[in-house]
Amino acid sequence: MDKRVVRRDFAQAADTYDRHADLQRQVAGRVAGLFVEYGGGETVLDAGSGTGLVGRALAARSALPERLIALDLAHAMTRRGARAAHPSVTGDCERLPFAPATLDAAISSLTLQWVNDLPATLAGLARCLRPGGTLVASTLAAGTLNELEGALVRADGRGGVGPFHNRHQLAAALASSGLSRPHCWEETVVKEASRPAEVLRTLKGLGAVSKDPRRSRGLHGRRRIQHLEAAYRAACRAPRGPVPVTWRVAFLVARKPPR
Ligand SMILES: C[S@@+](CC[C@H](N)C(=O)[O-])C[C@H]1O[C@@H](n2cnc3c(N)ncnc32)[C@H](O)[C@@H]1O
Repeated sequence: MDKRVVRRDFAQAADTYDRHADLQRQVAGRVAGLFVEYGGGETVLDAGSGTGLVGRALAARSALPERLIALDLAHAMTRRGARAAHPSVTGDCERLPFAPATLDAAISSLTLQWVNDLPATLAGLARCLRPGGTLVASTLAAGTLNELEGALVRADGRGGVGPFHNRHQLAAALASSGLSRPHCWEETVVKEASRPAEVLRTLKGLGAVSKDPRRSRGLHGRRRIQHLEAAYRAACRAPRGPVPVTWRVAFLVARKPPR
């Protein structure tokens, strides 16, 4: 994936992201809950922090770490999510700007699906953790937006949502990260949209335009949307009314072995 495109799309969505982030808010809450359950930490990285939903979910649980470092590829996102007294960094979680063993925990919600090399990214996060430190992450897994994928295939013979890792690939990446007690599981969340065009509007509002460079501009023309509307309804057998939107959310939790 071209980082310049990812950065540009998310930067353009910084002002609309929160309005469309129903699923993202729900998952950020789960990540915050897991962080608390797994022991928290004082110096904590939020990798791919976006507008700061995880930070807000932690604050709502009175569990804000002493030093929460928000890191995001898109400066407009970190600016939007900036919290007084907490540092934010514009940077790439595939090239972390931290010394080894300097973080008590790394959290990340719905960002890892955008990296080019997941095993290396997880290993990089592991390297920055202190012995005993915790990684808590969520990401999107294969099967996400399967209705839209079905619609794209029906409409013109090829998909374009994803690619997303499957559970085995995620578990293997986590197992190879150097962290111990890796735990990886998936949950299905089915949301509802009033109509297929709303699904596309939501994705655009989130900045998640497409992971496929050939698709990045092609989903949103007016004719294209009409065509996709019909294909989406056919794909999920919903000729009228609201349509389902399926998200497969994977959670990854592991610890750095104590020295
Ligand atoms: C779907 S948003 C999730 C944001 C936030 N964690 C949340 O839960 O709302 C994905 C975020 O990851 C950022 N991102 C994508 N690739 C990244 C990378 N390689 N390094 C850092 N941030 C990245 C995007 O700019 C975007 O803000």
